[in-house]
Amino acid sequence: MRVLLLGVGGFIGSHLANRLLRTTEHEVEGFDLTDEKLQEALELPGFTFMRGDLRNERDAVNEMIERADVVVDMIAHANPSFYVLKPLEVFELNFLENLRIAQVCVERKRRLIQFSSCEVYGKTVASGCGDDLKDPTDPRHAIFNEDKTDFILGPVGKHRWIYSCAKQLLERVLHAYGLRDGLNWTVVRPFNFIGPKIDYLTFEQEGNPRVFSHFMSALLEGTRMKLVDGGHHKRCYTYIEDAIDCIARIIDNPGGVCDGQIFNIGSPANEISIRDLAYRMRGMYAAKFRRPGEKLAEIVDVDSTEFYGEGYEDSDRRIPDITKAQALLRWQPRFDIEQTIELSMAGYAKYAPGVMPIAWTGVHDSTRSPESDGMTSLDPEVISP
Ligand code: UGA
Repeated sequence: MRVLLLGVGGFIGSHLANRLLRTTEHEVEGFDLTDEKLQEALELPGFTFMRGDLRNERDAVNEMIERADVVVDMIAHANPSFYVLKPLEVFELNFLENLRIAQVCVERKRRLIQFSSCEVYGKTVASGCGDDLKDPTDPRHAIFNEDKTDFILGPVGKHRWIYSCAKQLLERVLHAYGLRDGLNWTVVRPFNFIGPKIDYLTFEQEGNPRVFSHFMSALLEGTRMKLVDGGHHKRCYTYIEDAIDCIARIIDNPGGVCDGQIFNIGSPANEISIRDLAYRMRGMYAAKFRRPGEKLAEIVDVDSTEFYGEGYEDSDRRIPDITKAQALLRWQPRFDIEQTIELSMAGYAKYAPGVMPIAWTGVHDSTRSPESDGMTSLDPEVISP
């Protein structure tokens, strides 16, 4: 099968390319703005890559879609600070450009796997009417099911939600193309994947990367880990290897079980507040990564408007219901929160540009093997509890 990965150069795309090239017979074609994270993939047989901007290379991308059996679209702006800074660019890329890809897939009758986001669910019922609920902390308010849960977004003036809205509308359009034109689509909703090669904190970058990179960068530089609005909000962190395992099964689509389906991909057992994440990371850094004499980062509180600017509002909590992926794909995440954080920290220390190599004293080092990516060098069977 020929698989087209649009947005192959990103964190998820680069891992997915390596996985497909190493463990399947698929031919992989990739397209992205950058190949910085593709050094391994570029050396593997079966991979072709084109560097370019989707907005300037429509004909070339159309030809790639024509050549493919399945199109995996991962192209998006996906950092909350960017949604606040440049909401229209988020809409234009994440909705309009992705819509064009979907339309070409409709015309050419190609299967489309579209990356969406857990952000489509927005906030929990408890965030708006917690006082009226018997137990606002009951996790059942935050367990999101692909086909049953309603979406709760903030007001228009909080433009963070433009991302969620754009992703949601794209999902609805794909569903409608399926109904009218028979488009074969699958939607993926990732829940906070972390791991080696996650976005780094660099000054050239527009918008900030996500919290894990902020914290890791603060630890490496001995600066401040900032808790936005107290860090009380919660996320379920998913190790990239678990995520890629699920995505690879979706590409394989045994018996067509993924046709017209939406899949949450996440680790429900790995829920943690951002405050706890900061303390865990700092404790782990001190125990396993810290260089002699190195100053340990301070953990401080910051206001969200100060950190992100006007227009920010947050998802308070989100736990994926993964029963569909478990039943249809026989997929199960294996990495617990401890392993997920530790392996991701080790990966950051190894891959982030300009970071001095650290003698990591951890035992589960997925980053030392040349095969890296946690795909082949670390056997989850060995370390899973
Ligand atoms: C982001 C994207 O918006 C989603 O599309 C994507 O699916 C998701 O990441 C993901 O990784 O799957 P979010 O989890 O809000 O969503 O991204 P972060 O920027 O990592 O924020 C997580 C929490 O940490 C938020 O409560 C934020 O306010 C807080 N934060 C962030 C801090 O407390 N300190 C920081 O330095 C940065």
